[in-house]
Amino acid sequence: MLKVEHLTVKIENKIVLRDVCLEIGEGETHVLLGPNGCGKTSLIKTILGFSPYKIVGGRILFEGRDITQLPIHERARLGMAVAFQNPPELRGVKFGKLLELVGGETQRLLAEVGLPLEFLERELNLGFSGGELKKSELLQVLAQKPKLALLDEPDSGVDVESLRVLGRVIDRLTGKCSCLIVTHLGYILRYVRAKVAHVMMDGEIVCSGDPERIVSTIMEKGYQWCRSCPKRRKS
Ligand SMILES: Nc1ncnc2c1ncn2[C@@H]1O[C@H](COP(=O)(O)OP(=O)(O)OP(=O)(O)O)[C@@H](O)[C@H]1O
Ligand SMILES: [Mg+2]
Repeated sequence: MLKVEHLTVKIENKIVLRDVCLEIGEGETHVLLGPNGCGKTSLIKTILGFSPYKIVGGRILFEGRDITQLPIHERARLGMAVAFQNPPELRGVKFGKLLELVGGETQRLLAEVGLPLEFLERELNLGFSGGELKKSELLQVLAQKPKLALLDEPDSGVDVESLRVLGRVIDRLTGKCSCLIVTHLGYILRYVRAKVAHVMMDGEIVCSGDPERIVSTIMEKGYQWCRSCPKRRKS
């Protein structure tokens, strides 16, 4: 579904991704972990085609097609959707109107993520709480019925009940499409079965493997341990 080949990316002369390779098959769920500032969000935004991220090497393939130069809206049309870590507020754009335009089934989807109907009348993400933002983002992804969902920290800053709701919704989503999920503490893995976990450090993917093993090792030993790991992949 998605193939990232030797991707190197700059923002304002700073290299944020180095020789990143990643392959996500149809229906597979992968998780991406890594310390703050290592490049996880940059990878997601580069896959989507955001402009500050300048690709200086490598390419991105989606369903076998080279999309490296494709604008964001065309990537979205092909079937990519994102739940942002820090979603933008859109003044003047009603949440309900946006959902209607994207795909409909608005009321069912609201109920699924546990947001009340009054949200349809609110301006998108304006004044939403942290947990409400995560639900709003996930709902927009569901409405798009994507082939590939990129979820940037869907489990950060949500309470235990909301985590359960979001976890179950994401679990159902992963049954219908390919997924890349950025997570720090791996809470989402209580609900979602991922095939592979990747660890990113300083813009490089240094390790890929069994999600439970990788998450438990990081929780126990921290990223400092990853730095000195003899199996660390180097570009
Ligand atoms: N638009 C930008 N302008 C300048 N620097 C940027 C920009 N976007 C990202 N960066 C820098 O790129 C690096 C990687 O940032 P990124 O947001 O990808 O990290 P992250 O792994 O998602 O971190 P976190 O876990 O804190 O969300 C950081 O040093 C960040 O400051
Ligand atoms: Mg991030």
